[in-house]
Amino acid sequence: MKVTRKPVALSRATQLLNHGPVTIITSAHGGRTNVMAASWAMPLDFNPPKVVVVVDSRTLTRQLIEASGVFGLQLPSRGFAAQTLAVGSHAGAELDKFSAFDLDTFPAQIIDVPMLAGCITWMECKVIADESQRHDLIIGEVVAAYADSRVYSNNRWHFGDDPDLRTCHYVAGGTFFATGDAFEVAPVSAGSAD
Ligand SMILES: Cc1cc2nc3c(=O)[nH]c(=O)nc-3n(C[C@H](O)[C@H](O)[C@H](O)COP(=O)(O)O)c2cc1C
Repeated sequence: MKVTRKPVALSRATQLLNHGPVTIITSAHGGRTNVMAASWAMPLDFNPPKVVVVVDSRTLTRQLIEASGVFGLQLPSRGFAAQTLAVGSHAGAELDKFSAFDLDTFPAQIIDVPMLAGCITWMECKVIADESQRHDLIIGEVVAAYADSRVYSNNRWHFGDDPDLRTCHYVAGGTFFATGDAFEVAPVSAGSAD
């Protein structure tokens, strides 16, 4: 089959990597709490577990994380995509997104940050390195993690029949992908092309 490789505008190049699961970051400091959507989040290390998030300098989230040194990182499911888009489209400096979008929270176990009840996994993170001045990049150590047992247990994801309980991946302009079905393969054997 002939493959046509069309150029992608460099300003859109990051979209080619954007379909890792979209996340939601919660933050708090000095009586102020906030919530935002973040596509740019990734694992960094196993032990101790570390994650990287990229948080724009203009956000309230960035101010609160820098002041408190902690943040909540959670995965919304497809059923929570509209709320995810909402918290990623409004500035916390202008409205209390928790009450505006009727978001239920519960207290974190270790850090002093509200966690979102509508999500399906939750990680509590402490900032261990802050590269935000140069790259908007914050590295957190995960100090507590828990997951909705309907979709993750015994160290495995097991999405079932409920389409609303899939993790999702943000593209742009309100478009998401939902995580697809699992499949298993055996590795191709060396020399199998002969
Ligand atoms: C799906 C989605 C993903 C986003 N991902 C990021 C991200 O990874 N980093 C970032 O700085 N902003 C991201 N944004 C934008 C922020 O969520 C947005 O600027 C938000 O209003 C910041 O809120 P705050 O000022 O209340 O902290 C994303 C927005 C959406 C809708």
